[in-house]
Amino acid sequence: MSNADQVLKEIEEKAETDFLPIVGPERGKILAEEVRKADPKRVLEVGTLIGYSAILMGKEMGKRARIITIENHADEAKAAETNIQRADIPPKVEVITGDAIQVIPELRDKFDFAFIDADKTQYITYLRLVEDRLKKGCVIVADNAGMFARQMHEYLDYVRNSGKYTSRFVQVGDDGLEISVKLQ
Ligand SMILES: C[S@@+](CC[C@H](N)C(=O)[O-])C[C@H]1O[C@@H](n2cnc3c(N)ncnc32)[C@H](O)[C@@H]1O
Repeated sequence: MSNADQVLKEIEEKAETDFLPIVGPERGKILAEEVRKADPKRVLEVGTLIGYSAILMGKEMGKRARIITIENHADEAKAAETNIQRADIPPKVEVITGDAIQVIPELRDKFDFAFIDADKTQYITYLRLVEDRLKKGCVIVADNAGMFARQMHEYLDYVRNSGKYTSRFVQVGDDGLEISVKLQ
């Protein structure tokens, strides 16, 4: 088993006992497939928790790629850094501790993939703040678009109806992912 698979397994076990809201192996499989297909060079993640989804995405990425992931709880961000280091994935990963609403406007990178998995009512805010720095064809995966569809309604309405994205919902069990591609 690779270091990354070992760390993912440990986090899955911890998530069961400590009720951690990780993306988990089922929705995670779809997320990993999307990353593999897109082969992104710059990934933005909003909501690191302890690094599970960053490691899952990083496993599919190359050495020259980079992940920037934002977490507003310092203890979680620290645990994520340790887990990511132990996982020994190819891309460089930068864990930024802070509120994504404050952090995103300060980022200078352009992204070709984003995974949004923080405060459900703020998905629309995160997206609008980073939208100018998402490249044409950028894939945006939003977690919990089934279970939290009501809290995410502004986001879902925007990616489905603004004309700026093509977007589809992928149901996984009781929940799902909204997968959107930026048109220009
Ligand atoms: C569902 S968890 C993320 C799970 C992680 N993506 C995974 O699958 O392993 C959501 C995380 O977002 C963080 N969060 C919530 N609001 C945030 C904000 N405004 N800025 C940064 N992080 C935030 C929470 O502290 C929590 O750790």
